[in-house]
Amino acid sequence: MKNFEKYLNDEPININKIFEIIVEESEKLIKNNFDFSNSIFEHYKAKIKMLLQSNQKLFWNFWEYCEKRQKEIYTKKENEITKELRKNGICIKSNYFNEEQIKSLKNDWETAINSMPELNKEEKNLTLKNRFSFKIKNEINYVQSSEFDGKKRVIFSKVETFPNSFKTLLNENSEFKEIIKSYFFTEDIFYPSAIMAEEISKPKYSRNDLYWHIDNLSDQFKIMIILEDMTEDDAPFIYKENSHKIIKRYKERYHKMYSLNGMITQDSNHFEESFTAKKEKQVAVLKAGDIVLFDCKIHHSASFAKNNGKRKNIVIYYNKLPTIKNKILFKIDSYLNFALK
Ligand SMILES: [Fe+2]
Repeated sequence: MKNFEKYLNDEPININKIFEIIVEESEKLIKNNFDFSNSIFEHYKAKIKMLLQSNQKLFWNFWEYCEKRQKEIYTKKENEITKELRKNGICIKSNYFNEEQIKSLKNDWETAINSMPELNKEEKNLTLKNRFSFKIKNEINYVQSSEFDGKKRVIFSKVETFPNSFKTLLNENSEFKEIIKSYFFTEDIFYPSAIMAEEISKPKYSRNDLYWHIDNLSDQFKIMIILEDMTEDDAPFIYKENSHKIIKRYKERYHKMYSLNGMITQDSNHFEESFTAKKEKQVAVLKAGDIVLFDCKIHHSASFAKNNGKRKNIVIYYNKLPTIKNKILFKIDSYLNFALK
């Protein structure tokens, strides 16, 4: 631990030495079940965050070390879905849920959306400034966009508040868990961070623009469940296959996202279309009961409903998966040090 402080005072800082110490400390954590009490990641949180924010090479070396090391932990054989996810970053399973299951999911979805509190004029005006209105009622989050956006979201983040079908078919779905465990090479236990009922309706004025982005920079996964047969008018999910891998061209931008916002990137994770993979975008026009499993680092965008279209779906969020990368980088994530805002 003393060595770390010593090297920190060098001018210029010897990044290779710092990397060696960080790896040594990570190895100790892997061995002692992530007991951070005697770790540099506990004692020098802000300093390590500063080093990773200000040194792109150190950040990517550590990132790659985490990924390589993670693969040594989980050695089970991959199934077809994991293989497809690995290749494309996304996997669509048609007819995953049967009619009866869709019926119960849709009933609970409707109850959730119908309990959305009405916004008064002042609150509606605020959505024009803040994009969304957030309200909490009985520990459930109700989120409504401005009329120019057309989104309603009911977010359940506590298992006690999950509607029954969300609990049995989604939260306790062991197949989902096995796929994610295999994809992220982890044997640790985890649960969904949240389940969201979402309705995308036509905005007040017709729109056709896209907002290309990745979600969090951390290891994050989502599963979307489609509740009604769709057409192109129903605001389909748009994505670029195989854009989830961090190729050389993405690295500088992604490191800047980390520098500005950390593992949970927000505004800075949006980018212009020319930055995304140079291939045709794909449009997920799907059927009730289909599910979309995706690595949140796939380049994607929502689209807008047209005519009388609507998208009715549920999204399961797995935000903080128990990977080496997440455990260590989230530990130091509350320090921003020097962002622009
Ligand atoms: Fe997204």
